[in-house]
Amino acid sequence: VKTIGVLTSGGDAPGMNAAIRSVVRTAIHNGIKVKGVMRGYAGLLEEEIKELDSHSVSDIVSRGGTVLYTARCKEFTTAEGQKRGAEICKKHGIDGIVVIGGDGSFMGAGKLSALGINTIGVPGTIDLDIACTDYTIGFDTSINTAMQAIDKIRDTSTSHERCSIIEVMGRHAGYIALWCGVANGAEEILLPEKYDGDEQAIINRIIESRKRGKKHYIIINAEGIGHSSSMAMRIEAATGIETRATILGHMQRGGSPTCKDRYYASIMGAKAVELLLAGKSNRLVAYKKGEFVDYDIQEALRMKKDVSEEQYRIAQLLVR
Ligand code: F6P
Repeated sequence: VKTIGVLTSGGDAPGMNAAIRSVVRTAIHNGIKVKGVMRGYAGLLEEEIKELDSHSVSDIVSRGGTVLYTARCKEFTTAEGQKRGAEICKKHGIDGIVVIGGDGSFMGAGKLSALGINTIGVPGTIDLDIACTDYTIGFDTSINTAMQAIDKIRDTSTSHERCSIIEVMGRHAGYIALWCGVANGAEEILLPEKYDGDEQAIINRIIESRKRGKKHYIIINAEGIGHSSSMAMRIEAATGIETRATILGHMQRGGSPTCKDRYYASIMGAKAVELLLAGKSNRLVAYKKGEFVDYDIQEALRMKKDVSEEQYRIAQLLVR
């Protein structure tokens, strides 16, 4: 391996910059050139490629977002697009590439690998929805950002003696909702993996809790369930309690990464380069049971993940 590429793909996540910095510095330390591919696979197909040196990743470890920019690229899901991507890598002398992103990005990474470009994936998504790993870059920052926002909503909700539905991100996964639900002391935690749709039961519990003198009622609703605004209207109509919905949205993807996100992202970035140096390809860096490990990409994509029964049970007993 003489030159490696690095790109970020899919939704950005705080800590991606720490991973980029680590990829660049680890490669340079080992005498390898690094090329930054801008805007994910879209930028690869447009040949938006620039050489990175150690200095070009100074002052980025504490910054949210990704200095390489990111995109979701339809064309790269086609065989034609993937073939062109591999050819562009070869044209630019890129013989190994680190792809920082989520499941969708790893599908593309697997294809690049099959086309002869040594490829290593690094899990970067606030959703924590990658089955082979207990950690994804950005999740920690995202839950801390959401937690602080929910604390603030709780203040005003209590003052007005309202019910508040706060919708958090996570796509089809409920991890952000679960963690914030517990950390914010919510009254309801609605996860797509678990919610049975019984809104009447929620309404009954709200009325009960008001009778017991509770001044607020915080419902953390995961994006995968959604419909927070209409839920708020129905709850207000059924309970007579003023109810507001807040969709936290993209604020959860921004901001300076936490220490944990900077640290884990740095280790994972370095590990990705070391795998390339060892001649490996088609691997995904992961964090499992307290260790940094790696998996075959296809094997990793076949794995299934679910919210821990034990953690969900405990979360449910804490809300009442
Ligand atoms: O995957 C990260 C994520 O923020 C999800 O939580 C959310 O469903 C999605 O991306 C939003 O995507 P976009 O930024 O394209 O609206």
